[in-house]
Amino acid sequence: MKIGIVGLGVVGLATGVVLAEQGHKIIGVDIDQNKVKGLECKRSPIYEPGLQEMLERYFHNFTFTTDYGLLSNTDLVFITVSTPTIDGKIYLGYVFDVAKRLRDVLKRNDAIVVIKSTVVPGTARKVKEIVKNDVVSNPEFLREGSAILDTKNPDRIVIGSENKEAGDLVENLWKFTNAPVIRATWEEAEMIKYAANSFLAVKISFINEIANVCEKLKDCDVTVIAKAIGMDKRISPYFLNAGIGWGGSCFPKDTQAIVSFARDLGEELKIVEAAIKVNNERIKRVVSMLKGFIKEGNVCVLGVAFKPNTDDTRESVALKLIKTLKSEGYKVVAYDPKAITNEAKMVGLDECIRIADVVIIATEWDEFKGLEEKLRGKFVIDGRRILDPSKMEKEKFKAVGLGE
Ligand code: UDX
Repeated sequence: MKIGIVGLGVVGLATGVVLAEQGHKIIGVDIDQNKVKGLECKRSPIYEPGLQEMLERYFHNFTFTTDYGLLSNTDLVFITVSTPTIDGKIYLGYVFDVAKRLRDVLKRNDAIVVIKSTVVPGTARKVKEIVKNDVVSNPEFLREGSAILDTKNPDRIVIGSENKEAGDLVENLWKFTNAPVIRATWEEAEMIKYAANSFLAVKISFINEIANVCEKLKDCDVTVIAKAIGMDKRISPYFLNAGIGWGGSCFPKDTQAIVSFARDLGEELKIVEAAIKVNNERIKRVVSMLKGFIKEGNVCVLGVAFKPNTDDTRESVALKLIKTLKSEGYKVVAYDPKAITNEAKMVGLDECIRIADVVIIATEWDEFKGLEEKLRGKFVIDGRRILDPSKMEKEKFKAVGLGE
């Protein structure tokens, strides 16, 4: 098929390369000229495992452009633009702008418009009113850092459609993944995405609260609790890693968006609200651990990306931590294998540890595992539970969810 993808962020690009691998012709559209220019030279604008290689290998199936006109004879167009939360509410302007542009270019064509961007219930219905073409809601559940793998091997495919044939066509497109398919209405499909992300955020905040209690106990380690409860199939072992909190381009914005969306409907999402509150308090706890070691001095923050295997720092808890530490008067240096920031002086790993009075692990990059020996002599706070406490110097080590 000839497939348009509007919005070349991580979702658009991962979707694009995976469908290009399946032999489809992809027309990638973005308003960012620099991004398009880079892609035309086979340069991925972001770091995402496998993306650069896939882009090069299937480049013959791609056209990158800022010109919507090239979408005029496509079979299907994905909308993968961002849907930020502004003042606590979802901003759908980019989605509707795309819809209006598509209405103009798809006039002579019955291409199906597929919404992959995360949008509040009711959006597909509005997009349909604008474009008039068939609209399918097909939310993604991919994680940054494993976006391509997740796109190829999703746990499920959700297809929300009003017109069955349009839904069938999109279902068929993803058949190669062999994933179970949930057929749904537009609103159900849109709600599924928010329910999934909110539930995962709740799960992490839950274990983080349990971690708080563990820290107050003698000989109690939250990782043991998480491992044991995770063996219960009803709970599952995933997303039970206690840490300095969840960040990234999805959980913070999506939890806020659904809370305010529900409130406008007269409903309170009390559990999701509590999860947000718990998350917002994570940094305070790390700072108080730090104060237990030193009141001033040099801090090395290991990791600035919001999670490993990405260079994305959007809503990164590590960055918030750096800002807080600076406002508390600490001198901060940082190291990350891929991500960069202006918030702290970025140095090499060894240099970062050497300068530091205290080292804080803020992102669980594999590179930071097994650093126990290198950290000897330093105060260390393990904010992501990747170090082995038995290999650390007792009086110089603190970790999230680890009791006295
Ligand atoms: C998330 C969802 O997983 C994905 O399905 C959705 O499509 C987009 O949002 P992503 O933002 O890439 O994906 O990151 P994810 O791996 O879910 O992690 C989110 C945050 O939670 C990170 O800051 C991570 O460090 C944190 N996290 C995750 C924990 O603190 N503990 C965990 O156990 C898991």
